[in-house]
This record gives sequence, structure tokens and C-alpha cells, in this order.
Amino acid sequence: MSKPRKMRVVVLMHEDLVPPDSIKGLSEEEVAPFKTEFDVVVTLREMGHQVHALGVSDDLGLIRRAIEQIKPHVCFNLLEEFHGLGVYDSHVVSYLELMRQPYTGCNPRGLMLAHNKAMSKMICRYHRIPVPKFAVFPMGRKVRRPKKLEFPLFVKSLTEEGSVGISQASVVYDDDKLTERVEFIHRTVGTDALAEGYIEGRELYVGVIGNDRLQVLPVWEMLFPNLRDDAPKIATGKVKWDARYQKKIGLDTKLASDIDDGLRRKINHLCKRIYRSLGLSGYARMDLRLTPDGRIYLIEANPNPNLSYGEDFAESAETAGIGYDQLLHKLINLGIGYRLRGQA
Ligand SMILES: Nc1ncnc2c1ncn2[C@@H]1O[C@H](COP(=O)(O)OP(=O)(O)O)[C@@H](O)[C@H]1O
Ligand SMILES: [Mg+2]
Repeated sequence: MSKPRKMRVVVLMHEDLVPPDSIKGLSEEEVAPFKTEFDVVVTLREMGHQVHALGVSDDLGLIRRAIEQIKPHVCFNLLEEFHGLGVYDSHVVSYLELMRQPYTGCNPRGLMLAHNKAMSKMICRYHRIPVPKFAVFPMGRKVRRPKKLEFPLFVKSLTEEGSVGISQASVVYDDDKLTERVEFIHRTVGTDALAEGYIEGRELYVGVIGNDRLQVLPVWEMLFPNLRDDAPKIATGKVKWDARYQKKIGLDTKLASDIDDGLRRKINHLCKRIYRSLGLSGYARMDLRLTPDGRIYLIEANPNPNLSYGEDFAESAETAGIGYDQLLHKLINLGIGYRLRGQA
């Protein structure tokens, strides 16, 4: 399909996150909630595209009308929920597909598989991708640990993102604490809980871009230089969202050092296999842990990861020589070029 250089782009986003035209005079904290939306809209405009920021919360009619009236070449999808539910994000993309509307980011089948942390691990196990052993603890059911599941364990929500319900107390060492933490997830997050083997090691993030031909971005690492030695080095809710705490523990994310060519090749190959096994498209970020003895585990695959300018994904793309506008351009082209095939 030939594409005009200047396109009509509808950027789909949550209605509360429609950014102002300018952020002059706003503090970093005030901008933070809609920073991705702002960066994407402003950059696409600077690239000369005709951009419509469309705020959506629970009305598919809005999307339908925008598609019919504006006839966008592509919908740039920044929506992460519908009716306030994260698990509905894939259904909105299904709706776009049913309307034959090209969109950026992951297809609905990949979104659905990746967002269920048990389902995605089952598929990975089948493909011999290393993932921690795990068990699901449904709400309203007594907590009984399968014998094969040995301590220490990591307890989290089966489906929530953004480290909701994750703190240092997520790592548990006995059955009492396991029960306590599972019930905590049920009560405070309101979802089933997942307990999996706690993987001690380095925290690595690896971006992947593509539909058929995949490009793996440089390996990014989260570092916690000032965290107490005995505290687990994990990305808790506070680590991700509390600016003061981040400063206190010296939180840093950057190009991972000491990754030799062999390891780098192994990580690249693994990330491509994960991407294909889960039927992902567009772009994704793999959350990996690297153990002291050199084993790599997949913790989670994130289709449509955070695209803010200066955040891990865009930064690692930049390191690979892909500037921010070039990155958005690539994602648009992938969206327009995506073809539904038999498999995913
Ligand atoms: N099995 C595990 N072993 C070690 N750390 C883990 C494990 N599961 C999660 N974590 C830590 O918690 C963070 C958030 O978990 P993740 O499954 O990626 O959830 P979210 O969707 O909230 O990002 C990870 O980045 C990692 O630091
Ligand atoms: Mg994660």
C-alpha cells in the first residue's frame, strides 16, 4: 500500500489524558500522567501529520464516528482500558479490526494472551522459553500451595499492570506469608493472584519492534544502587511511581553493561521467540531477569509498552539510532502494513 507522507492520524487515548496544546508553566508532576499522549501528539504534528487526539472512555460510537468522518490512514493506539478495565483494551483493537481500520501496536489476540500472566507462561513453557514455575490462586478459593512450587515465591496480580499490588512484601518465604499476600491481592487489587518462583538477579528490559521481521533493541537495565543490600532488587509500585523514593534509592535505567556478544545474541533470539510465541505485533517490551549464573527468565511480555519520550523504550531505540520521530514513523508503518494471517 502506498502511503502519503502526511497522514491523517487519530490518536486514541483515555479521555482524562487528552493533553493540552502546550505544557509551558506546568510542573513535571502535572505533566506526568499525560506525558506519553503529549509526546506522541506533538511529535506527530511536528512531523507534518494531521493529528486528532480522541479521548475515549466507554463509548465505541466516538471511535466509529471519528473513523467515518476523519477517515484516518491509521489510529495511533494509546488506549490501555475501556469501561475502566484493562482487560478490555484488546476488544477495542478488535473493534478497529472489524472496522478494517489500521492501527498501531499489538493485535488483539497478542494483547489478550500477554495480559494474562498465567496463560502467557503456559504458552512459553510449551515453547521451552524459560519462565518461573507458577500457580494461580483464584479469588474466593482456599490458598493451597502445590508441592512443586518452592519458596521463595513472588506474589502478584494475575492481570494488573504497572506493579499494582507489588512491594518488597511480594517476596514470601513460607506458607503463612504466601496466604497473607495472596489474600492481600484478592482484597486490594480485586483480581486472582499468581505466585511464581522468585528469580534473584538483574532486571532487564528489552524492546522488540516488528510484525514479521523483528528488530530487537539494546538491552536496558534497571539499577537500584542505594537500596539496602538485603532488599530484593525489584520494580515495585514505589520504584515505578514515587519520584521521592526513586531519588532515595538512586534509581537508574540505562544500557546494560557487561553483556557480551554471546549473551546478547541469546537474549535477542529469546525475545524474538517470545514475541512470536505470543503472536505479538507492532512493538513490545520484554521484562527479563538474568540470574548470577547467566540464566535468563521471562517475567512478563508487555505489548504496547510506555512510549514516552525519554522513557526506557524510546531511549533504547535512540541508542540503536532510531530517533523519536523515526520510532513513531516505524510504528505507523507497521500498523498500516499489518496483515491478519491464519495464526495470529
Ligand atoms: N518471579 C519474579 N521474580 C523476581 N522478580 C519479579 C518476579 N515477578 C515480578 N518481579 C518483579 O516485579 C516487577 C513487576 O512485575 P511484572 O510481572 O512485570 O508486573 P507489572 O505488569 O506490574 O509490570 C518486575 O519488573 C520484577 O522486578
Ligand atoms: Mg512488568
